[in-house]
Amino acid sequence: MKSDILTELDRDGLRGNFNRFTRRAFQMLPRLDRPRILDIGCGTGVPALELARLSDGEIFGIDIDEAALEGFSRKIADAGLQDRAKAVKCSLFDIEFPDESFDIVWAEGVIAIIGFDKGLREWRRLIKPHGYLGIHDNVDDIQRKTEAIPAHGYAIINTFAVPKDTWWDEHYCLLEKRIQKLRNKYRENADVLALLNKEQNEVEMFKNEPRYHGSIFYVIQKS
Ligand SMILES: C[S@@+](CC[C@H](N)C(=O)[O-])C[C@H]1O[C@@H](n2cnc3c(N)ncnc32)[C@H](O)[C@@H]1O
Repeated sequence: MKSDILTELDRDGLRGNFNRFTRRAFQMLPRLDRPRILDIGCGTGVPALELARLSDGEIFGIDIDEAALEGFSRKIADAGLQDRAKAVKCSLFDIEFPDESFDIVWAEGVIAIIGFDKGLREWRRLIKPHGYLGIHDNVDDIQRKTEAIPAHGYAIINTFAVPKDTWWDEHYCLLEKRIQKLRNKYRENADVLALLNKEQNEVEMFKNEPRYHGSIFYVIQKS
């Protein structure tokens, strides 16, 4: 039932509205021949698949959420990308790839889990010399974070913001409408209503917490 409701909410479709920002960030990198890419906290793989489409490389998506990884694996199979994309169960706190395994490390919506500075420090070892890191983060502390990037052994290639209004118009407003519709449809079903309340909490967080009022991409290079 949970996965049916999530399918009806079509969060992947909403997430896909933001792939244009993933593309914009990726296109700030020089063209690499068959890069090895790691997507940390890939979820159901919406940005990871976009990276696979944008490059001719090999992409590994790691996450701890098995249901999300299954969704990613299904998408890989549907897109016929089995030879270039792989969903791997692995925590971002304990990434099991050897040093300098990747040309590009990517992390959208996850660095806050480990902390910006710790993420930059720990993920650096995974990147090949002069390789790249793409981070999509909340808007907390932008100036301090931007200043910290060189101190952690990276050079900034570019940064850009995704405005709050874009997040509202193309994501949270639509999500809230879908939640409301499903609330009516499943008004007798306590389990579904509980699930929808959890989804609505995220909408409320967006409305109430300034750090979610927009987001920012940092596109940086290992020095
Ligand atoms: C906001 S979602 C972002 C998903 C995807 N990167 C995107 O942008 O669509 C955060 C993801 O981090 C994952 N996550 C949370 N804790 C994690 C951990 N310790 N290790 C790996 N992934 C984790 C969640 O399961 C979730 O898929």
